Amino acid sequence: MLRPRILIIDDEPNMGRSLSILLGDDGQREVVTARSGEEGLERLDDDTQVVLCDLSMPGMDGLEVLRRIRARAPEVEVILMTAYSTVQSAIEAMRLGAHEYLIKPFTNEEVSAAVESALMLARPSRRLKLRAREPDRLCELVGRSEPMQRMFRVIERAAESDATVLVTGESGTGKELIARAIHDLGPRRAGPFVAVHCAALAEQLLESELFGHERGAFTGAHKTKIGRLEQADHGTVFLDEVGEMSPAVQTKLLRALAERCFQRVGGLETIRVDLRVVAATNRNLETMIREGGFREDLFYRLNVVAVTAPPLRERPGDIRLLAELFLKEKAAELDVPPRRLSPAALLALEAYPFPGNVRELENVIERAMVFADGELLDTVDLPLGAAARPMPTFESLIGPAVQNAWPRLQELVKSLERQLLTRALSAYADHPNEEIARLLGTSRRILELRLQEFALKKKT
Ligand SMILES: Nc1ncnc2c1ncn2[C@@H]1O[C@H](COP(=O)(O)OP(=O)(O)OP(=O)(O)O)[C@@H](O)[C@H]1O
Ligand SMILES: [Mg+2]
Repeated sequence: MLRPRILIIDDEPNMGRSLSILLGDDGQREVVTARSGEEGLERLDDDTQVVLCDLSMPGMDGLEVLRRIRARAPEVEVILMTAYSTVQSAIEAMRLGAHEYLIKPFTNEEVSAAVESALMLARPSRRLKLRAREPDRLCELVGRSEPMQRMFRVIERAAESDATVLVTGESGTGKELIARAIHDLGPRRAGPFVAVHCAALAEQLLESELFGHERGAFTGAHKTKIGRLEQADHGTVFLDEVGEMSPAVQTKLLRALAERCFQRVGGLETIRVDLRVVAATNRNLETMIREGGFREDLFYRLNVVAVTAPPLRERPGDIRLLAELFLKEKAAELDVPPRRLSPAALLALEAYPFPGNVRELENVIERAMVFADGELLDTVDLPLGAAARPMPTFESLIGPAVQNAWPRLQELVKSLERQLLTRALSAYADHPNEEIARLLGTSRRILELRLQEFALKKKT
């Protein structure tokens, strides 16, 4: 666990000492001191989150330090301190993006409050910086396409704000992973993440799932039950498939969200909760509102920040990355040797529209790994749905890539040949080889040699 790091820059040694005692008192943070602007910049590193800097120092002054930190590490929050405040320097400090401008002498409370609020802002951004080393990933989400990169930026900004988020997107686009990422990158990441699957439960059960119930509230309520909202206190509640909620539960939820309190079913006690709400749906809530199926006021309360998960067919560039991820994950999960995709198989995946989105891709890879015998997964091994293109054309296989073209070509020809033979064998299973060869435009001898080479047999 990384401790927040605070850097104090002041030429007055007593100031540095007393501030480090004050701010580092609970041992939860690391406080580093420097006696000049130059030394301060040297001690600024990747772990620094907040800098307290004196304004007037011999050598480099506080405004210059601020200017350089903004340029070098814009995610670090800077608090300037001065005994000689002028309107001019205060304006300049704010213009340069200082977090706060403290006038000496200040009380312990004042400086602690300033540091706390700066840490709140600085913390998520530092994670951003750490993550920046792996641009194709955000928490568990993988994607390098433009729509995914754009969505990553929205998620990061949304996460920092603690605002309510509504995640929309087709089935299998990763809405649950998005909700988790928002929690994990947000200020409540140390708190619980509690998911409620609103579609899975009948109205009364959902109500008691969300709000809990008192003993004897209804038949079968033998014990008091703590609801999900209560469990999520100080953390995040994820309302999955929120479009499936009945009108009565919608109304109750709206009240709970507006007032941040509610009663358990059959209870009188008012329960206060402090939580963040992330909701998800694959339905079009705006259409549902028009048709009277969803409360408009609840929609606005949930849709403070909107995150839209793009369908996989709009970002075929991510298919390879995701396929490779699943190949690795599934090999470990299923405890089978690593497999790879033939170039033709990859092209077939990239051409497939994936109505079931990432979940379907994950299933396709998993099933292919279970059933294929070789190390190389070919097009015939992929259980693609009816939407699959029959067979890639020669042009699409060769494409514009000339790099390494010869071995690629050999591999492609082989894989096409294998596909063609597999299909012919299953289509003409009860025909003699002689006739199959004639249909394919070759001789029986060549057909049989090839079948042998590919270890293919007619299914009888
Ligand atoms: N960008 C991604 N990177 C890695 N894995 C992903 C990504 N998107 C989805 N997945 C995986 O795909 C599967 C489906 O994702 P998830 O359950 O989050 O989808 P969903 O949008 O909630 O779907 P539904 O609406 O059907 O509930 C999960 O196994 C998830 O791990
Ligand atoms: Mg889901």
